[in-house]
Amino acid sequence: MCGIVGYIGTEEAVPVLLNGLKKLEYRGYDSAGIAVLGKPGLVIRKSKGALKQLEEKVAAELKTGDGASLSGAMGIGHTRWATHGEPSDINSHPHTDVSGKIAVVHNGIIENHGKLKAWLEAHGVIFRSETDTEVIAHLIDFHYNGDLLLAVVEALKRLEGSYALGIICENNPDRIVAVRKESPLVVGSGRGENLIASDVPALLEYTREVYYLEDREIAVLYRDRVEFYNEEGQGCKKESSHVDWDVSAAEKGGYEHFMLKEIHEQPKALINTLRPRIKTYAVKSINLEEIGFDGSWVEANRVVITACGTAWHAGMIGKYAFEHFARIPVDVDIASEYRYRNPVFNPRDIFIIISQSGETADTLAAMRMARKSGARIIAITNVVGSTLAREADLVMYTWAGPEIAVASTKAFTTQLLCIYLIALQFGFLRGTIGGDVLADYIDALENLSAYAARILDGKENIQRFASRQFNKSKVFFLGRLFDYAVSLESALKLKEVSYTHSEAFAAGELKHGPIALVDESTLVVALCTQSSLFDKMDSNIKEVKARGAATAAITYEDVDYFDKTVDEVFRIPHTLDSFTPILSVIPCQLYAYYCAVQRGLDPDKPRNLAKSVTVE
Ligand code: F6R
Repeated sequence: MCGIVGYIGTEEAVPVLLNGLKKLEYRGYDSAGIAVLGKPGLVIRKSKGALKQLEEKVAAELKTGDGASLSGAMGIGHTRWATHGEPSDINSHPHTDVSGKIAVVHNGIIENHGKLKAWLEAHGVIFRSETDTEVIAHLIDFHYNGDLLLAVVEALKRLEGSYALGIICENNPDRIVAVRKESPLVVGSGRGENLIASDVPALLEYTREVYYLEDREIAVLYRDRVEFYNEEGQGCKKESSHVDWDVSAAEKGGYEHFMLKEIHEQPKALINTLRPRIKTYAVKSINLEEIGFDGSWVEANRVVITACGTAWHAGMIGKYAFEHFARIPVDVDIASEYRYRNPVFNPRDIFIIISQSGETADTLAAMRMARKSGARIIAITNVVGSTLAREADLVMYTWAGPEIAVASTKAFTTQLLCIYLIALQFGFLRGTIGGDVLADYIDALENLSAYAARILDGKENIQRFASRQFNKSKVFFLGRLFDYAVSLESALKLKEVSYTHSEAFAAGELKHGPIALVDESTLVVALCTQSSLFDKMDSNIKEVKARGAATAAITYEDVDYFDKTVDEVFRIPHTLDSFTPILSVIPCQLYAYYCAVQRGLDPDKPRNLAKSVTVE
């Protein structure tokens, strides 16, 4: 999704803006632009394509001496992910009003832009782009009477939809106005300089003191201070937060790609997620007091889990885990479906909402529906201060550290760990798991980090396999129970980063249709970690083999059941069958990564995808 940066201080703004936009590249974009306000007034440069193209444009201008117009100590910048209008220079942000004195960058969608456009056109405004954003610049101008804040307050009254906005005006060269609704925006407060950004990594070189804006809250940034206002323009107070993770956590650290780095960070992330939640007195137990999880939560009649994409797959594993450990009914739903259905609520339902970013539009909408029904909400998210974290009753952070690659890896495995902890504690408090058994489960969870590291040590096997198989036109993942959910996640990873047509099937469904697709061009990867179903999986593998498919299995290192059936076996350390997803997904993440690299693709920035889907 789009990325926003803004700077006001004493340094030249251009390098700060370009640097900030670079840190937001992971969000996905197709064009970029900046607006700088200096002595020559408001100057805008935009470019379709990679940020590098904008950088080259600006560098060429600076080299020839024409760059004086780009000199200025305040400005705003943007990476655009096209929604309204094709990627082009003209549709790139910043957008301005007719006179060119007001510049706006926007992330989100203005739902009533058609109506507003017609209304503005009736007032003589001539539009230049196809974007929804341009109406904002004209609206602010329509209400502008010398005071930028007041003009923004008035314009917001007319806007429907979602937005994070950075706004500057030639006539108010000492301030940036920023506001958000349902799209992320963070204010960074430095010494003699202040900034805005869509995400914290873009701020960390300048400051660690940040303010997370609430919906409809407005910030006015001056060089030496930041003022906050409500949507009516009345001043309000706000507490800053200190970011204590390092900028290096958001950089590649010697790995070729963020995706590979983040796959390798899983052993550490699993420890960070688990350790603060375990009490190790006489008998090990789970400590969820930090998040306020007490006995009242387990009186629920039903658990409802909603999420999108990878987080939804984590939710599916959550269903199996809750049923298995806590013996409570669970519904798991795709947030974009849930929000438009007519679901039956029960006041004793509890909702678990999972989202790496905590900003996914559909997921937030599903959460708000649940909230309206009176249900209590647990959020599992990776981003401190995200909208989901702020609106839920309880937040369990995944502590995976910033996830930059578009394809989610370490966020997934740490989401799973959070779900296991909640499901186990649920079971313990409901009496379906005894204290001693719980302690054994905790031991098993504690082993997972070292086991994950062991799988990563053997990554060359997967790399070699990928170098032979990366051109397969069809890859199917098969599994049963927990393995089925991992199959879904594995197929998603592979299609996202390598553009291979990959699908997941519940192995028992094979004969009900999908087997018609299997031929010599197919690779079938069978997830085989559910011990009671080994014979069923073995039969399924033989069925696809008989139709010419190449086959691989992922199973335990001490199991030789499949050695004679498949062409290739990948092994994971032996853990409880119900905890295997955290391990068995790792070879599949690596396989997806190596296939992308073999195909000459950039796994960090898959085509058409954005890291944080803040619009529908
Ligand atoms: C897959 C992926 C997406 C996200 C989905 C939800 O690798 O990254 O499928 O999982 O867009 O995003 P969050 O978890 O931020 O709500």
